[in-house]
Amino acid sequence: MATDSRDVLDRVDRDKKAYLEQLKSYLRIPSVSTDPSYRDDVLGCAAWLTEQMRSAGLTAETIETDGYPLVYGEWCGAPGKPTVLFYGHYDVQPVDPIELWRHPPFEPTEEGDRLVCRGATDDKGQSFAHLMAVAAILEERGELPVNVKFIVEGEEESGGEAIEAFVREDAGRRLSCDCVVVSDSSMYGPGQPSLIYGLKGMAYLELKVTGPNRDLHSGTYGGVVTNPLNALAQIVARLQDPKTGKVQIPGFYDDVRPLEDWERKEFAALPFDEDDYKNAIGVKELWGEDGYTPTERAWARPTCDVNGIFGGYQGEGAKTVLPSWAGLKISMRLVPDQDPKKIAAALTSFVHEVAPPGVEVEVHEHHGADPILVKLEGPIVDAALAAMEDVWGKRPVKVREGGSIPIVATFGQVLQVPTLLLGFGLKDDALHAPNEKFNISHFYNGIRSIVRLIDRMADIEN
Ligand code: BES
Ligand code: MN
Ligand code: MN
Repeated sequence: MATDSRDVLDRVDRDKKAYLEQLKSYLRIPSVSTDPSYRDDVLGCAAWLTEQMRSAGLTAETIETDGYPLVYGEWCGAPGKPTVLFYGHYDVQPVDPIELWRHPPFEPTEEGDRLVCRGATDDKGQSFAHLMAVAAILEERGELPVNVKFIVEGEEESGGEAIEAFVREDAGRRLSCDCVVVSDSSMYGPGQPSLIYGLKGMAYLELKVTGPNRDLHSGTYGGVVTNPLNALAQIVARLQDPKTGKVQIPGFYDDVRPLEDWERKEFAALPFDEDDYKNAIGVKELWGEDGYTPTERAWARPTCDVNGIFGGYQGEGAKTVLPSWAGLKISMRLVPDQDPKKIAAALTSFVHEVAPPGVEVEVHEHHGADPILVKLEGPIVDAALAAMEDVWGKRPVKVREGGSIPIVATFGQVLQVPTLLLGFGLKDDALHAPNEKFNISHFYNGIRSIVRLIDRMADIEN
């Protein structure tokens, strides 16, 4: 029985600086998947990671797709033992607004315990901990007590179509496993390990409102034709009731699974200081749907938000013009059992219904994500809870999250095994924002947690 991991944990203590240096090399590759000008870097990042898996002792390959490649690695030398599939993404978000960064965004910089760099927490740092844990065990013992597989994608931040197609086509052959481990989220608070059992889904749409065939003089034509920007603002104003915070799209709440009593109790028992919360993000008031606490709204109630609105004159000074068109990007975060396609269709008909005459509205739908809830029972979940407690010294709390990781729902449908959402980040990691960071101690504890998880999984009777 390998429940004692001291051999490997000692090695992690000795070698952790070297793991950190490897992470820094990973972070220096600007693998921004949404911006085509980074294409070579994204491809280079996949190649780098493949090599890294090989030097850790895995059989690894870069799998070509219609989009960015997948990096796949495995070590399957423990027949009869469970198989763990580790998922992560090697792509990162764009860096703008670049002027707000304290250091160049792709130069990992230590500020005390913080490692500041784009991708530090989302998701290079968190998922690299999986690989370093496996590397440490293989180096120490020459073998693993379970089988491991790694699938790391390069398009999570830009739709994730490639991995979606791969997982469906593979249908659990190459990816067959007993559980999936994902570290791409955060802990409830500093020192408070968490096991996430729910993620939101998403429907994302773009609207283009078109009016006159060219920009018009706002004196000559103002008050005579519909201004596309005004029209867009009218549409946006209809989306939510400003008093109750309820989304007004017909049918929006039809399939929403209500919060269960035990969830409301669990959430309410978590420490939550509203003033700290407000101060951390610099707002004076919170806002949202009537009848739900901030935590309930963030984790378990669907939302509708404008992400970008554009058109018209954006330059210095005053230019008097009626724009010929206006644009909008809008996301709806969904909860079980809402269906992204159905919700996108509901928004589309609503928009056409409320658009004022004199403009055309075109709707373009982006790739969505299904909301998920995972079961928190069984020996694998118990192993994960115990492993986290071993390392962080505290029992994990069971929480949900407002973010989305599109492939997790597909894993559940296709592989039919439990998914462990073991986030090592913190809420102040500034993911997607300037000065993204990952606490170095969390990187090390992430490695230790995975070492313990692997050893504890080995003891599960198959
Ligand atoms: N790691 C995040 C998702 C996340 C964030 C989960 C915080 C839990 C807590 C992921 O990389 C991400 O940004 N996902 C996108 C998905 C979208 C592009 C479909 C998101 O949630 O906006
Ligand atoms: Mn992520
Ligand atoms: Mn992200």
